[in-house]
Amino acid sequence: MSENWLWWKDGVIYQIYPRSFKDSNEDGIGDLQGIIGKLDYLADLGIDAIWLSPINPSPDADFGYDVADYKDIDLKFGDLGVFDLLVAEAHQRGIRIILDLVLNHTSEKHPWFVESRSSLDNPKRDWYIWRSGSDEGRKPPNQWQSVFGGKAWEYDEQTGQFYYHMFTRQQPDLNWRNPEVYAEMMRIFRFWADRGVDGFRLDVFNNYFKDAMFRENPTKLGVRAFDRQVHLYDTNQAVMMEVVADIRSILDSYPERYVVGETFLADTKMTASYCGPGKFHAAFDFYSLIKTPWNPARYLRAIQRQDEELPVEAWPIHVFNNHDNRRIATRIRAGEDDEKLKVAAALLLTLRGTPFLYYGEEIGMRDIHVTRSEIQDPVGKHYWPIPVGRDGCRSPMQWNDEPLAGFSTVKPWLKVHPKFPTRNVASQHENPRSLLNFYKALLHLRRSYAALKGGIFIPLNHEPQRVLAYVRQDNDNRILVALNLARRRSKLAVGGEITRYKWEVLLSNKERSQSQFRKGWLELEGYEACILRQL
Ligand code: GLC
Repeated sequence: MSENWLWWKDGVIYQIYPRSFKDSNEDGIGDLQGIIGKLDYLADLGIDAIWLSPINPSPDADFGYDVADYKDIDLKFGDLGVFDLLVAEAHQRGIRIILDLVLNHTSEKHPWFVESRSSLDNPKRDWYIWRSGSDEGRKPPNQWQSVFGGKAWEYDEQTGQFYYHMFTRQQPDLNWRNPEVYAEMMRIFRFWADRGVDGFRLDVFNNYFKDAMFRENPTKLGVRAFDRQVHLYDTNQAVMMEVVADIRSILDSYPERYVVGETFLADTKMTASYCGPGKFHAAFDFYSLIKTPWNPARYLRAIQRQDEELPVEAWPIHVFNNHDNRRIATRIRAGEDDEKLKVAAALLLTLRGTPFLYYGEEIGMRDIHVTRSEIQDPVGKHYWPIPVGRDGCRSPMQWNDEPLAGFSTVKPWLKVHPKFPTRNVASQHENPRSLLNFYKALLHLRRSYAALKGGIFIPLNHEPQRVLAYVRQDNDNRILVALNLARRRSKLAVGGEITRYKWEVLLSNKERSQSQFRKGWLELEGYEACILRQL
């Protein structure tokens, strides 16, 4: 490994939604012991780090994203002892652990909030955002809306004031302007870093601060009330930059720690502004892949936009799936043969930047269809049927064809996808042409060729119609990636500069006897992902 090897830069990060990965104690909910039992699977897959969605104690109004204690583990997942074991076992296999810290808000059941709401003069009162109402106290202090539905202000009878919540009313926002809150938040980073945690994913970090004067947002057209505001005053406040620097300096006092921010309501430019030396290592630009439609020109533009906006020293990340969005297989209506998904996988894993995978992506899991009475997600409960909520992408991992897909032996908290008997890890493991084995091959390739990690990115065509093609290059290798996003055969025009050399096929999801450059063209089968190396 070269001296510059940095696990978060060269590695691939795998997100686990712990409730849905593997249940070891037969309560229908996944847990840490379940994850420990699957570490060999993850090591064999070839990932470098795991991001765990929140595992702190939580009443689950938003499934872990409403935390009741930042320094403990929820009993349904295990305890600190099992967590330490998970960290040790993961480290033994060269896998790092990234925790999800939800520091914008707590659960309403967090002892801090219980105290805070108890009286106007409670010492914790100012730990949250309390305001008197307007119009003799009956109307909310301003017109801010909650993204999960309804007004962002909740009236509390006990003290006759309103508290602010950007998400559900069970998730009151903390007051980051209070120095005690601030200090406590910084202690949370140290608590987990001291325990050996390698990195943090910061939930909606750019929401920590709101306008000090609580000015009203300008309005615009939109469907939901939340979308009918320009979020000028309830998010992305300039003061956040100081916190970004403080968090980074805490993490830099430990070796090789990583922080990735989840931006909320931020475009590529805003997202990029939080990254770089002295700032976060990375932040999610959801406009890169997850929000971009299946179109080569659109992907290319999104990728280049991210590169243009990021400071030179910063590092991009790429992601197709997470626990808040429909799975890519469902979004792009991938056929059951998974060939289209292989093209997506090849794109994700050959770009310059850190790829994030989401559990089950490697076997092409599809969203489950949830009926109204089955809805668990607060977003679905509020808005159904548009949108239906986020349960679809959170169904139990499909391990094998045993009842309940080998996830659990009792009814799981969310149902298993009905096609699990044919779509599961065990069956794909056996099939050399499966999506799972294609992911493995790609991950292996990424590990073998540094050009696929740190190499520069050179697009081969600028207005691609069907084929997205680029070269990744470092001092040792030149690798050409050609992705046919169309169902039909397509040709890629390649200049003499490319055809002058001999190329070997490193990987393709189609039968290829040779690289087949003919008269300046590379021919590709429908949904072919082809990776070549210059000899
Ligand atoms: C983030 C999480 C999402 C959660 C919300 C509130 O967007 O990804 O799942 O509901 O924050 O914490």
